[in-house]
This record gives sequence, structure tokens and C-alpha cells, in this order.
Amino acid sequence: MRAVIVVLPGDGIGPEVVAEGLKVLGAVARKFRHEFVTRDALIGGAAIDATATALPDVTLNQCLDADAVLLGAVGGPKWDDPKARVRPEQGLLAIRKGLGLYANLRPVAVNPSLLGASTLRPEILAGVDMIVVRELTGGIYFGEKVRERDRASDLCVYTVGEVERIVRVAARLARVRKKKLTSVDKANVLETSRLWREVATRVMRDEFSDVALSHMLVDACAMHLIRRPADFDVIVTENMFGDILTDEASMLVGSMGMLPSASLGEGKRGLYEPIHGSAPDIAGKGVANPYATILSVAMLLRHSLDLFAEAEAVERAVASAIAAGLLPGDIAAAAGVAPIGTSEAGDAVVRALA
Ligand code: IPM
Ligand code: MG
Repeated sequence: MRAVIVVLPGDGIGPEVVAEGLKVLGAVARKFRHEFVTRDALIGGAAIDATATALPDVTLNQCLDADAVLLGAVGGPKWDDPKARVRPEQGLLAIRKGLGLYANLRPVAVNPSLLGASTLRPEILAGVDMIVVRELTGGIYFGEKVRERDRASDLCVYTVGEVERIVRVAARLARVRKKKLTSVDKANVLETSRLWREVATRVMRDEFSDVALSHMLVDACAMHLIRRPADFDVIVTENMFGDILTDEASMLVGSMGMLPSASLGEGKRGLYEPIHGSAPDIAGKGVANPYATILSVAMLLRHSLDLFAEAEAVERAVASAIAAGLLPGDIAAAAGVAPIGTSEAGDAVVRALA
């Protein structure tokens, strides 16, 4: 098949990990005889430097015309001035909103060869295989923000329609997994959470009676994620809770450098990015972990291009590189091996794919 993929390397380690993602995409193209046309565009700090905006119109338009978008990371100390008019993160939020990508899928599966690399005990981690479905274009991230001299506010808003559609995405996933959905909210305090709980209950009762729904408060969820993580299957939650819980969940697999994500809307087009940030402290050193980005490429193949065998081949190749002990610096020491570099990790995946 032929597909157009816009590449947004972004800032910090973004360009380094994206280069490895593209290396693997190229290997998939050769092996399975596809043509992937890639187009680079600017986002985040790189875009601010060049155009004074975090998401130039040309970038958004290119993405709207593409089949999928692969993104590295945005942000860094250079653009951190609290008085700055524009921040790199605004580019990320704007592209999620601009492409209508309301559903953020963040799979968290423990690789058996990394059981010892987490800060948690291996027996707690065995069998962990969950997916967090994070609402991505609503809630406190996008509500009105006000700053006055001696006070500030961020408004959290959810509509019935926004909750319905994200619950449906999660329920469809749960239906082909263990038929178990946990909806996470803070209904004991927040009105938006009470709406969320009501809508989730109705949608599940009316449309997904074959999937068992349970509700959990977000603070309890934070606890259970490290107490009995293998009990979770699909989690659905609002934007901010999903952001926080997935950083926590990444520690189950040993490192943020291992977790991919897919952001989807109504059509097939999606945006794929590692859940980690731009890691300015290690940028440019060739030591960043590219596996999260490479696994995001697998999600791109699966969700936007319907290339299921190709996606699985990439995931298997990553698993076999990891099983061979080929691990970058974020996780190597914990796994008891010497670290490899970013491009060595990409090469290992390409070799395993061949
Ligand atoms: C994420 C990140 C972003 C978010 C930041 C960089 C704006 O933390 O994708 O999880 O909060 O959504
Ligand atoms: Mg985050």
C-alpha cells in the first residue's frame, strides 16, 4: 500500500527517537513491499524558533492531508519561561484538538524479560496487560484559563457527547479483550466526574451489556495500579487523570521509554507518539530509548493503515531485541545489562524484523 505519514520530530530527544521509528518503518516497507511517503514538519519549540508559533498552519494542514502522524516529543528549558506568550506544549494540544483526536490509547504490558527491571516486585507485575484510554481533547486541559493578579483558574468541562464517545472507544476495546472496563473518576468531589459516571453507566448498560463496568475513584486507582496491576484490563478516564495515571503505569514496565501511544478520532487518521517527554537532559547524546517510538510505529501500522501483520512483526521484533538484553540506558542497569545507544536499539529491531 501507499501511505503518507507526516513526521513531527519536535524537541529534545524527539528527533533521535523518531529517526529510529523511521528506520523501522523503512524496514517494514522493504519487507512487506509498501510505499510510505514521509513529510517532515515543525511542532513545539522547533516551530516556535522558526515561526513564533508552536503549531504552524502548514503543519496542521499537512497532517490533515496525511494518513497518519508520527511525533517525537515537545518542550525544553529553552522555552520554559513562565512569561513566554507561547509554549511548545500548546503545539501538542493544538494538534490533538485540530485533528479531532479525542481518544488516546496507552497500552501497558509487562515484557516478561523486564520483570526484574521495575521498582516493583516481579510477582506483582506478572500478567500485567492493560490499556488506558485517556480522553484527550476535553476537560481541564482545554477549559477557559484565567490569570489575574492574585488568582488563577482552569475550568474543567465535559459534555455528555464527549463522555459517550470515549466510553464507546474503550468499551469496543474491552469487548475484544477481557470484557472488563474500569471507569476512573473523582465523583465524590467533581461535578464533571458525576456526569462522567452517569453517562458511562448508561452507555455500558444500553450498548455494551456484555462488558462488565466498574467505577473507581482516581486516588484509589493510583493505589491499585501498584498494588494489584494485573487485575486491570481496560481503563477509561478523563484527560488529566489519564495523563497522571499513565506516567505511574509506565513504572510497571520499568521505564517511560517503553510506552507507546495512539491518538485517534472518528476516521482512520491518527497521531502516534511515545508517552515520554523531550528529556532535555539526555538530548543529543544518542542514548535515549527509542522503543516507545518504535512501538508507536507499530500502533500506526495497526490503527491507521490496517496493516496488522506488519504491526505484530514490529512488536515481535522489539520484544526479541529486549529479550536479547539490548536495552538503552533508562532501563539497562535495572535489567542488569550494559546499555546500548539509541541507534543500536533501532538497528536491533531492524535486524530482528528481517
Ligand atoms: C503527555 C504529555 C503531555 C500531556 C504534555 C507534554 C502536554 O505529558 O502526552 O502525556 O500532558 O498530555
Ligand atoms: Mg503525560
